[in-house]
Amino acid sequence: MSGKIKWGVIGSGGIARRRTIPEGISKARNGKLSVVFDIDPQVNSEVAKEFGAEEAGSIEALLDADIDAVYIATPPCHHANQVRASAKAGKHVLCEKPLGMTVADAEEMIELCQQKSVKLGCAFMMRFAAQHTEALKLINQGRLGRPTYARAQLSCWYPPIEGAWRQDPDTGGGGSLIDMGGHCIDLLEMLFGRISRVSCFINNTVHDYKSEDSAAAMLFFENGAIGTVDTFFCIPDNSSKNVLELYGSRGSILAKGTIGQGPSGEMVAFLEREGKAYDAQQARDESEGLVIALAAVNTYQAEIEEFSQAIIEDREPLIGAEAGLRNQKIIAACYESAKSGQVVEVD
Ligand SMILES: NC(=O)c1ccc[n+]([C@@H]2O[C@H](COP(=O)([O-])OP(=O)(O)OC[C@H]3O[C@@H](n4cnc5c(N)ncnc54)[C@H](O)[C@@H]3O)[C@@H](O)[C@H]2O)c1
Repeated sequence: MSGKIKWGVIGSGGIARRRTIPEGISKARNGKLSVVFDIDPQVNSEVAKEFGAEEAGSIEALLDADIDAVYIATPPCHHANQVRASAKAGKHVLCEKPLGMTVADAEEMIELCQQKSVKLGCAFMMRFAAQHTEALKLINQGRLGRPTYARAQLSCWYPPIEGAWRQDPDTGGGGSLIDMGGHCIDLLEMLFGRISRVSCFINNTVHDYKSEDSAAAMLFFENGAIGTVDTFFCIPDNSSKNVLELYGSRGSILAKGTIGQGPSGEMVAFLEREGKAYDAQQARDESEGLVIALAAVNTYQAEIEEFSQAIIEDREPLIGAEAGLRNQKIIAACYESAKSGQVVEVD
């Protein structure tokens, strides 16, 4: 396939309108927006006009249009059905996280997309942040030494809102853990490798909606490293600095504000030279801190360009459905642990 990938969007009125269409699909050098659908026709009409797209009156009409790929940005309870319909229509699918509501949803989507020979990606766009790809590079170069500990934090203030899908597990699959913690878990698996077992607490500490507003998970990686993810709907936005801390036997990489939607944040690395001896004084040498200043990458543009390119080159997308399935398995293990009070194996 050559030329620009023609995109359709299902669920045009939320994150699609706020970020993915204006920053991603409209800016992509190898893609363009063709048609949009939203269950709310007025919103859909506005989005179509705003971005010069055709307006579909139904999912069937959108899938009948001349498009190559579909971006699904509806609440999680609709992902499985909409991925199914898109795959049956022969369209490649980039589905927002989480990949459906459950492990079974994700597995079914993967199987069907394979049967129909369409690509399936999961929109973990935070992997593309310049600081995150640089941290991965440093880790892969061995600059951190042996990975030992990682923390990823993403929290916000999210008070009760009538009908909000994130506040009911029947529509969102859970609360802060699956919604924001999913990104954190995905980033830590990208950076430190596979997570083998988890231990987790969830709670409704402040808000009394049905989904949890609080979650902290402890993760054990296959390589022996340990990690934590903390994610709350009940901490004021400005109080959560959304830190990413990566420690290894030769140093640390410490970031603030890089986990999120914008290309902001800062990152510093403290990397030791090889063969440093034991220092009984434990003297800290601040001068070893390396400020990692990089040209910003728009994560939405990067994710759309990467998925479009995978279609053009007929290869697997960089963030394929397997990442979405892994995420579902880890999150399911976390919820099981929170319920049982036990450590839970991921697979
Ligand atoms: N990666 C990111 O940066 C990011 C950020 C926010 C949300 N998300 C994900 O995107 C998805 C949507 O979240 P959101 O914040 O945009 O939600 P939202 O509620 O703000 O927007 C969802 C949109 O989908 C529409 N919709 C609902 N049901 C529909 C249906 N059956 N068919 C068609 N349209 C339907 C709604 O009318 C609304 O316009 C979720 O999976 C969420 O986890 C990702």
